[in-house]
Amino acid sequence: MNKKRITFASKIGIVAAAAGSAVGLGNIWRFPSQAADGGGALFIFLYIGCILFFGIPLMMGEFIIGRAGRANPSRSFEKLAPNTSWKWVGLLGVITGFLILGFYMVVCGWTLDYIVQSITGQLMTTENFRDNFFELQQSPFRQIAWMFLFTSLTAFFILAGVKKGIEQSAKILMPVLFLLLLMLGIRSITLSGAQEGLFFLFKPSMEHVKSTIFLDAVGQAFFSLSIGMGCMTTYGSYFRDDTNLRKTSVQVSLLDSMVAVLAGIVIFPAAFALTQSPDTIVSTLVAGGPGLLFITIPELFHHLPLSSLWASMFFVLLGIAALTSTISLMEVVTTYLHEEFQMLRSRAIILLSIGVAMLGIVSSVIPQFFNLLDFATAKIMLPLGGLFTSLFIGWYLDKNILRAQITNNGSLNISIGFIKGYVFILRYVAPAAIGAIFIYGLLF
Ligand code: TRP
Repeated sequence: MNKKRITFASKIGIVAAAAGSAVGLGNIWRFPSQAADGGGALFIFLYIGCILFFGIPLMMGEFIIGRAGRANPSRSFEKLAPNTSWKWVGLLGVITGFLILGFYMVVCGWTLDYIVQSITGQLMTTENFRDNFFELQQSPFRQIAWMFLFTSLTAFFILAGVKKGIEQSAKILMPVLFLLLLMLGIRSITLSGAQEGLFFLFKPSMEHVKSTIFLDAVGQAFFSLSIGMGCMTTYGSYFRDDTNLRKTSVQVSLLDSMVAVLAGIVIFPAAFALTQSPDTIVSTLVAGGPGLLFITIPELFHHLPLSSLWASMFFVLLGIAALTSTISLMEVVTTYLHEEFQMLRSRAIILLSIGVAMLGIVSSVIPQFFNLLDFATAKIMLPLGGLFTSLFIGWYLDKNILRAQITNNGSLNISIGFIKGYVFILRYVAPAAIGAIFIYGLLF
């Protein structure tokens, strides 16, 4: 087993791959609707608090477990805590990843459908965007075909391997994504009347505050940073020995939050500037649901000159964000099958793709199943995974291993005070907060 594990090749590649996992549909589809639902600024404020206090420390924690274990999440836990139950936390993560794919992939499929609709110009000739989206939802065949295609596309990149497939694609796709987002953001805030939307997004409003706002913010932070299920553990297992884990987790989290806020800046100002009835737009946003982007966005772009161009840019952006995330999710399960069942990677990928497609078929046909998977993973399984990861590092993990990972065996100058503070957060603060929020959210 002492064969040296494959690693990513470059520092940029590492940040790109991890940011590629983090930046996904969660940033562009989930974040704006959660923000609108949670009263704009108040939600954003809580969300950023969650990123700083739990998100970054936990992401770094997953990196630590992954790089110290140099294996899939379950085996990494097993290596660091032999013959204990901790490996189940890793396994829980692998299952969570599989279930996330089961609804995520369906939205990815819609993205492909909309890319084609916008590039061919057909989307902008639609009379009623709501009906257009319902038509897609009423057509299991169309949805399933696109979902299959996206699953195969993901599988194709993973088959190409960790360096050539995952790292290289992220290094190209992430800058493209950023550029597209910036162009759309500039277009949106330079529309006349855009300020109203910015006000809506950044001005705290107490009107919409719900009792579950904390749970929503934590759920969103975990989902958006890809933590709580071993995704970052798996990527961490491919990090180089000289990767600075603290710096990487801060960089990745910052990039991710930036993209989420930028997505809000694309959507809200456009909503207020382009329609007579921003209130209806906002209520669709608040009603949230996956339909948001596929109804609201085309409706907005429809009012712009060159509407098909903007819509194409937007859906390509969405597709790219989604792809680098599905790659990371599928990689977790793939390495797990490969290492635990001695399956060839190619065979594991095929088997997994079939499994994901089956869940995807059920989610396409039964919306309640889709919602159940979304709810169970984001609100229950990810927070639980985060809680256990936090407890593991705070209480169980050998502090020498922890120190060696954080300082790269003493070669980085990171103070003892930092490490003590870090352990304190993972030992008390994060578990108490996640536990309390979790119980509160389930009770109300
Ligand atoms: N973070 C991605 C998003 O924002 C989705 C994702 C990828 C994810 N890997 C994950 C979510 C692991 C939770 C856990 O869309």
